Amino acid sequence: MAEPRSDFAHVFDAPPPGAAADWTIPQGWDAYTEVEHRTWVTLYERQMKVLPSRACDPFLRGLDALDLHGSGIPDFARINEALQRLTGWTVVAVPGLVPDDVFFDHLANRRFPAGQFIRTPEQLDYIQEPDVFHDVFGHVPMLTDPTFADYMQAYGRGGQRAAGLGRLQNLARLYWYTVEFGLMETPQGLRIYGAGIVSSNTESVFALEDASPNRLGFDLVRVMRTLYRIDDFQQIYFVIPSLDHLLAETTKDFAPVYAALEGAEDLPIETVLPTDQVFTRGTQAYARRGGRFAV
Ligand code: PHE
Ligand code: FE
Repeated sequence: MAEPRSDFAHVFDAPPPGAAADWTIPQGWDAYTEVEHRTWVTLYERQMKVLPSRACDPFLRGLDALDLHGSGIPDFARINEALQRLTGWTVVAVPGLVPDDVFFDHLANRRFPAGQFIRTPEQLDYIQEPDVFHDVFGHVPMLTDPTFADYMQAYGRGGQRAAGLGRLQNLARLYWYTVEFGLMETPQGLRIYGAGIVSSNTESVFALEDASPNRLGFDLVRVMRTLYRIDDFQQIYFVIPSLDHLLAETTKDFAPVYAALEGAEDLPIETVLPTDQVFTRGTQAYARRGGRFAV
């Protein structure tokens, strides 16, 4: 969820042939081709040129702990031995995006559904559908962090509840601006923890260094009111002071939060409010030029 789900080749209305009722499939690791493994290695090596000084420590530690080094698409069974031991999470293979309720149920049970397929060599720089590189390289390292691991499980439970309350749209924005595109304040400066950023070579640099986007302090209700774009670099990033803060803010009861959102208007992405904590007031030059990656 929280990721777009139209026009995509890997979106299905019901579990496709070969998938279980919970939409999982065998990873079929032996069937990946040489070209597919090489695509992983290329993507991995490009990220290691940009991430050591930009990704947060929990992410970099997670990469090491899972031994995701660039020898090819990892075997989920091997990742799961370490991941299960560290935080009780496992990675399960799915054919593509799964319905919200299925997604939430996996998260609530500490299972992360990861796309089984990998992008083609022509799609190295951009793919809207989450493939195995985005899902495993981008998301799974953070799941080795005990606090983030708890956050993701709580999010799954929160999703089930938000669905019942008709507030999924607000909760999806929380996912977008934390799990996918979150930044973190550290003594060394801003660092990336969002999977959508760490799995993108160009956005890894843009998110931290470009003058265009706004970088604002994380505020739960503010984030849940903020629209987002799925087709280009973000125009706004939210900065958390720590993972502990994120977990503390989100484990509180959202019923009053949802009630407060009832009458609140959605905020356009370029908005900066007088109440925002501003790390960077962006020029929005990139978006005004028309965007789409010519940084
Ligand atoms: N605290 C939220 C609720 O009461 C659940 C939640 C936790 C949502 C963590 C997102 C992240 O619904
Ligand atoms: Fe994702």
